[in-house]
Amino acid sequence: MKFKEKLQESLKGIIPKDLLDKLPSGYSVIGDIAVFRHLNPKIEDYKSTIGEHLISIDPQVRIVVEQVDTISPYRKPVIVHVAGEKRTKTTHKEFNTIFNIDLETITFSPGNKNERNHLVQTVSDNEVICDMFACIGNLSLPIVVNKPSVRIYGIEWNQIAFDFLRQNIEVNKVDNRYFPIYGNNKDSTPRNFATRVLMGYFDIDYNQFRCALEAIENQGWVHYHSLTPRDNLEQPIEIIEQARNESGYKIEVKEIRQIKKYSPRLYHLCSDIFVEKY
Ligand SMILES: C[S@@+](CC[C@H](N)C(=O)[O-])C[C@H]1O[C@@H](n2cnc3c(N)ncnc32)[C@H](O)[C@@H]1O
Repeated sequence: MKFKEKLQESLKGIIPKDLLDKLPSGYSVIGDIAVFRHLNPKIEDYKSTIGEHLISIDPQVRIVVEQVDTISPYRKPVIVHVAGEKRTKTTHKEFNTIFNIDLETITFSPGNKNERNHLVQTVSDNEVICDMFACIGNLSLPIVVNKPSVRIYGIEWNQIAFDFLRQNIEVNKVDNRYFPIYGNNKDSTPRNFATRVLMGYFDIDYNQFRCALEAIENQGWVHYHSLTPRDNLEQPIEIIEQARNESGYKIEVKEIRQIKKYSPRLYHLCSDIFVEKY
Protein backbone atom coordinates (compact mmCIF):
# COMPACT_ATOMS: atom_id res chain seq x y z
CA MET A 1 0.00 0.00 0.00
CA LYS A 2 1.31 3.45 -0.89
CA PHE A 3 2.18 5.92 1.92
CA LYS A 4 -0.76 8.23 1.13
CA GLU A 5 -3.26 5.35 1.16
CA LYS A 6 -1.85 4.08 4.48
CA LEU A 7 -2.09 7.57 5.95
CA GLN A 8 -5.67 8.00 4.66
CA GLU A 9 -6.63 4.66 6.17
CA SER A 10 -5.17 5.44 9.61
CA LEU A 11 -6.45 9.02 9.81
CA LYS A 12 -10.04 8.20 8.77
CA GLY A 13 -12.31 9.65 11.46
CA ILE A 14 -9.42 11.71 12.89
CA ILE A 15 -9.25 14.36 10.20
CA PRO A 16 -12.23 15.61 8.13
CA LYS A 17 -13.14 13.39 5.16
CA ASP A 18 -12.68 16.14 2.56
CA LEU A 19 -9.07 16.62 3.64
CA LEU A 20 -8.00 12.97 3.21
CA ASP A 21 -7.23 13.73 -0.41
CA LYS A 22 -4.92 16.59 0.58
CA LEU A 23 -2.57 14.37 2.61
CA PRO A 24 1.06 14.19 1.40
CA SER A 25 1.99 11.39 -0.99
CA GLY A 26 5.52 10.96 0.33
CA TYR A 27 8.44 12.25 2.39
CA SER A 28 12.19 11.89 2.43
CA VAL A 29 14.36 10.75 5.32
CA ILE A 30 17.71 12.36 6.12
CA GLY A 31 19.36 10.68 9.12
CA ASP A 32 16.49 10.26 11.61
CA ILE A 33 14.50 13.26 10.33
CA ALA A 34 11.57 12.94 7.90
CA VAL A 35 11.10 15.93 5.63
CA PHE A 36 7.82 16.89 3.98
CA ARG A 37 8.02 19.44 1.18
CA HIS A 38 5.24 21.98 0.65
CA LEU A 39 2.34 20.44 2.59
CA ASN A 40 -1.11 21.55 1.48
CA PRO A 41 -2.09 24.62 3.59
CA LYS A 42 -5.55 23.08 4.09
CA ILE A 43 -4.07 20.39 6.39
CA GLU A 44 -2.16 22.95 8.53
CA ASP A 45 -4.20 22.14 11.68
CA TYR A 46 -3.48 18.40 11.31
CA LYS A 47 0.24 18.55 10.59
CA SER A 48 1.36 17.42 14.04
CA THR A 49 -1.13 14.49 13.99
CA ILE A 50 0.29 13.42 10.61
CA GLY A 51 3.86 13.84 11.88
CA GLU A 52 3.24 11.83 15.06
CA HIS A 53 1.58 9.10 13.01
CA LEU A 54 4.62 8.97 10.73
CA ILE A 55 6.96 8.59 13.74
CA SER A 56 4.80 5.69 14.97
CA ILE A 57 4.95 3.78 11.66
CA ASP A 58 8.51 4.43 10.39
CA PRO A 59 11.17 3.11 12.81
CA GLN A 60 13.88 5.23 11.11
CA VAL A 61 12.05 8.48 11.88
CA ARG A 62 12.26 10.29 15.25
CA ILE A 63 11.54 13.84 14.08
CA VAL A 64 9.30 15.29 11.34
CA VAL A 65 9.82 18.70 9.71
CA GLU A 66 8.47 20.56 6.70
CA GLN A 67 10.80 22.32 4.26
CA VAL A 68 8.81 25.26 2.93
CA ASP A 69 11.48 27.01 0.85
CA THR A 70 15.21 27.46 0.10
CA ILE A 71 16.60 30.99 0.07
CA SER A 72 19.71 32.99 -0.94
CA PRO A 73 22.72 31.86 -3.01
CA TYR A 74 23.71 29.78 0.05
CA ARG A 75 20.52 27.72 -0.56
CA LYS A 76 19.49 28.06 3.11
CA PRO A 77 16.41 25.89 3.78
CA VAL A 78 13.37 27.27 5.59
CA ILE A 79 12.34 24.52 8.03
CA VAL A 80 9.19 24.26 10.16
CA HIS A 81 9.00 21.76 13.04
CA VAL A 82 6.11 19.28 12.71
CA ALA A 83 6.53 16.50 15.30
CA GLY A 84 9.04 14.84 17.65
CA GLU A 85 12.05 16.37 19.34
CA LYS A 86 12.96 19.96 18.31
CA ARG A 87 16.29 19.27 16.64
CA THR A 88 17.50 19.76 13.05
CA LYS A 89 21.03 18.29 13.37
CA THR A 90 21.39 14.68 12.31
CA THR A 91 23.80 12.13 10.84
CA HIS A 92 22.88 10.65 7.47
CA LYS A 93 24.56 7.53 6.04
CA GLU A 94 24.59 6.75 2.33
CA PHE A 95 27.01 4.78 0.12
CA ASN A 96 29.32 4.07 3.11
CA THR A 97 29.58 7.82 3.67
CA ILE A 98 28.73 9.70 6.88
CA PHE A 99 27.16 13.14 6.45
CA ASN A 100 26.79 15.31 9.56
CA ILE A 101 24.23 17.93 8.67
CA ASP A 102 21.94 20.60 10.11
CA LEU A 103 18.78 20.66 7.99
CA GLU A 104 18.04 24.19 9.15
CA THR A 105 21.16 25.62 7.57
CA ILE A 106 22.14 23.26 4.74
CA THR A 107 20.36 21.65 1.75
CA PHE A 108 20.77 17.94 1.16
CA SER A 109 18.67 16.65 -1.71
CA PRO A 110 17.57 12.99 -1.38
CA GLY A 111 16.54 13.29 -5.07
CA ASN A 112 20.24 13.47 -6.00
CA LYS A 113 20.94 10.00 -4.54
CA ASN A 114 21.03 8.35 -7.98
CA GLU A 115 23.49 10.99 -9.16
CA ARG A 116 25.73 10.32 -6.14
CA ASN A 117 25.66 6.61 -7.05
CA HIS A 118 26.19 7.37 -10.75
CA LEU A 119 29.33 9.37 -9.94
CA VAL A 120 30.74 6.62 -7.69
CA GLN A 121 30.19 4.11 -10.53
CA THR A 122 31.53 6.41 -13.29
CA VAL A 123 34.72 7.85 -11.80
CA SER A 124 37.89 5.89 -12.64
CA ASP A 125 40.86 5.15 -10.39
CA ASN A 126 43.36 7.96 -9.78
CA GLU A 127 41.09 10.76 -10.98
CA VAL A 128 41.46 14.29 -9.59
CA ILE A 129 38.09 15.98 -9.16
CA CYS A 130 37.07 19.58 -8.58
CA ASP A 131 33.69 20.07 -6.85
CA MET A 132 32.98 23.77 -7.47
CA PHE A 133 29.84 23.80 -5.25
CA ALA A 134 30.89 21.34 -2.55
CA CYS A 135 28.36 22.20 0.21
CA ILE A 136 28.97 19.54 2.91
CA GLY A 137 30.39 17.13 0.34
CA ASN A 138 26.95 16.07 -0.99
CA LEU A 139 28.16 14.92 -4.42
CA SER A 140 31.88 14.48 -3.87
CA LEU A 141 32.32 12.76 -0.47
CA PRO A 142 30.83 9.40 -1.58
CA ILE A 143 33.31 9.33 -4.49
CA VAL A 144 36.38 9.84 -2.33
CA VAL A 145 35.10 7.39 0.31
CA ASN A 146 34.41 4.62 -2.23
CA LYS A 147 37.35 5.22 -4.60
CA PRO A 148 40.55 5.02 -2.52
CA SER A 149 42.86 6.38 -5.25
CA VAL A 150 40.78 9.48 -6.09
CA ARG A 151 41.61 13.00 -4.86
CA ILE A 152 39.06 15.82 -4.55
CA TYR A 153 39.29 19.61 -4.24
CA GLY A 154 35.95 20.94 -2.98
CA ILE A 155 35.16 24.67 -3.02
CA GLU A 156 32.51 26.22 -0.75
CA TRP A 157 31.86 29.85 0.18
CA ASN A 158 29.29 29.40 2.95
CA GLN A 159 31.15 29.22 6.28
CA ILE A 160 28.50 26.95 7.88
CA ALA A 161 28.55 24.47 4.99
CA PHE A 162 32.35 24.65 4.89
CA ASP A 163 32.63 23.79 8.61
CA PHE A 164 30.38 20.73 8.07
CA LEU A 165 32.45 19.78 5.01
CA ARG A 166 35.65 19.82 7.09
CA GLN A 167 33.95 17.82 9.86
CA ASN A 168 32.66 15.25 7.33
CA ILE A 169 36.09 14.90 5.70
CA GLU A 170 37.45 14.09 9.16
CA VAL A 171 34.74 11.61 10.24
CA ASN A 172 35.04 9.76 6.93
CA LYS A 173 38.85 9.66 7.38
CA VAL A 174 39.61 11.06 3.92
CA ASP A 175 41.58 14.15 4.95
CA ASN A 176 44.64 12.89 3.05
CA ARG A 177 42.64 12.93 -0.25
CA TYR A 178 39.84 15.52 0.12
CA PHE A 179 41.14 19.12 0.12
CA PRO A 180 38.52 21.74 1.08
CA ILE A 181 38.92 25.28 -0.27
CA TYR A 182 37.01 28.11 1.42
CA GLY A 183 36.00 30.84 -1.02
CA ASN A 184 34.13 31.97 -4.10
CA ASN A 185 34.80 29.52 -6.93
CA LYS A 186 34.98 32.46 -9.37
CA ASP A 187 38.40 33.31 -7.98
CA SER A 188 39.49 30.21 -6.05
CA THR A 189 39.14 27.37 -8.57
CA PRO A 190 42.64 25.96 -9.21
CA ARG A 191 43.72 25.65 -12.87
CA ASN A 192 44.99 22.80 -15.04
CA PHE A 193 44.74 19.94 -12.56
CA ALA A 194 41.43 18.05 -12.81
CA THR A 195 40.06 15.12 -14.80
CA ARG A 196 36.49 16.03 -13.82
CA VAL A 197 34.61 19.09 -12.54
CA LEU A 198 31.26 18.97 -10.71
CA MET A 199 28.98 22.01 -11.13
CA GLY A 200 26.07 20.98 -8.87
CA TYR A 201 24.31 24.34 -8.71
CA PHE A 202 21.74 25.98 -10.97
CA ASP A 203 22.66 29.69 -11.01
CA ILE A 204 25.90 29.22 -12.92
CA ASP A 205 27.27 32.08 -15.00
CA TYR A 206 29.61 32.11 -17.99
CA ASN A 207 32.69 32.97 -15.86
CA GLN A 208 32.10 29.95 -13.64
CA PHE A 209 31.84 27.70 -16.69
CA ARG A 210 35.18 29.14 -17.90
CA CYS A 211 36.69 28.39 -14.45
CA ALA A 212 35.49 24.77 -14.84
CA LEU A 213 37.14 24.53 -18.28
CA GLU A 214 40.37 26.04 -16.95
CA ALA A 215 40.37 23.56 -14.04
CA ILE A 216 40.59 20.64 -16.50
CA GLU A 217 44.09 19.40 -17.23
CA ASN A 218 44.38 18.54 -20.95
CA GLN A 219 41.05 16.70 -21.21
CA GLY A 220 38.18 15.67 -18.97
CA TRP A 221 34.55 15.96 -17.97
CA VAL A 222 32.39 18.82 -16.74
CA HIS A 223 29.09 17.79 -15.13
CA TYR A 224 26.85 20.82 -15.59
CA HIS A 225 23.58 20.86 -13.63
CA SER A 226 20.63 22.97 -14.79
CA LEU A 227 16.89 23.44 -14.49
CA THR A 228 14.73 23.31 -17.58
CA PRO A 229 10.98 23.51 -18.30
CA ARG A 230 9.44 20.04 -18.47
CA ASP A 231 7.71 20.83 -21.76
CA ASN A 232 10.79 22.28 -23.46
CA LEU A 233 14.06 20.62 -22.40
CA GLU A 234 16.81 23.20 -22.81
CA GLN A 235 20.55 22.57 -22.61
CA PRO A 236 23.10 25.23 -21.61
CA ILE A 237 23.79 25.78 -25.34
CA GLU A 238 24.59 29.49 -25.30
CA ILE A 239 27.23 29.26 -22.56
CA ILE A 240 28.85 26.28 -24.30
CA GLU A 241 28.86 28.02 -27.72
CA GLN A 242 30.45 31.15 -26.26
CA ALA A 243 33.09 29.11 -24.40
CA ARG A 244 33.85 27.09 -27.53
CA ASN A 245 34.38 30.26 -29.59
CA GLU A 246 36.42 32.11 -26.99
CA SER A 247 38.59 29.26 -25.68
CA GLY A 248 39.17 27.29 -28.88
CA TYR A 249 38.77 24.08 -26.80
CA LYS A 250 36.84 21.10 -28.16
CA ILE A 251 33.66 21.01 -26.02
CA GLU A 252 31.11 18.27 -26.66
CA VAL A 253 27.88 17.48 -24.78
CA LYS A 254 28.02 13.67 -24.68
CA GLU A 255 24.87 13.02 -22.64
CA ILE A 256 22.05 14.87 -20.92
CA ARG A 257 20.62 13.04 -17.93
CA GLN A 258 17.42 13.71 -16.03
CA ILE A 259 18.32 13.83 -12.32
CA LYS A 260 14.86 14.48 -10.88
CA LYS A 261 11.56 16.30 -11.19
CA TYR A 262 12.41 19.57 -9.45
CA SER A 263 8.93 21.13 -9.36
CA PRO A 264 5.62 20.70 -11.21
CA ARG A 265 7.10 22.67 -14.13
CA LEU A 266 10.84 21.98 -14.00
CA TYR A 267 13.28 19.10 -14.46
CA HIS A 268 16.76 19.00 -12.93
CA LEU A 269 19.17 17.90 -15.69
CA CYS A 270 22.89 17.14 -15.79
CA SER A 271 24.82 17.67 -19.02
CA ASP A 272 27.96 15.52 -19.25
CA ILE A 273 30.39 17.65 -21.25
CA PHE A 274 33.72 16.34 -22.54
CA VAL A 275 36.47 18.92 -22.94
CA GLU A 276 39.70 18.59 -24.92
CA LYS A 277 42.08 21.52 -24.53
CA TYR A 278 44.99 20.63 -26.81
C1 LIG B 1 22.78 23.36 -3.95
S1 LIG B 1 24.23 23.29 -3.02
C2 LIG B 1 25.09 22.02 -3.88
C3 LIG B 1 24.89 20.73 -3.28
C4 LIG B 1 25.45 19.56 -4.03
N1 LIG B 1 26.32 19.90 -5.12
C5 LIG B 1 24.31 18.66 -4.45
O1 LIG B 1 24.08 18.55 -5.66
O2 LIG B 1 23.63 18.11 -3.60
C6 LIG B 1 25.13 24.63 -3.66
C7 LIG B 1 26.31 24.99 -2.80
O3 LIG B 1 27.16 25.83 -3.58
C8 LIG B 1 27.60 26.91 -2.76
N2 LIG B 1 27.93 28.01 -3.69
C9 LIG B 1 27.09 28.75 -4.45
N3 LIG B 1 27.77 29.65 -5.17
C10 LIG B 1 29.11 29.49 -4.86
C11 LIG B 1 30.30 30.12 -5.28
N4 LIG B 1 30.29 31.12 -6.17
N5 LIG B 1 31.49 29.69 -4.77
C12 LIG B 1 31.51 28.67 -3.87
N6 LIG B 1 30.40 28.02 -3.41
C13 LIG B 1 29.21 28.43 -3.91
C14 LIG B 1 26.43 27.21 -1.84
O4 LIG B 1 26.86 27.85 -0.66
C15 LIG B 1 25.88 25.79 -1.57
O5 LIG B 1 26.45 25.22 -0.43
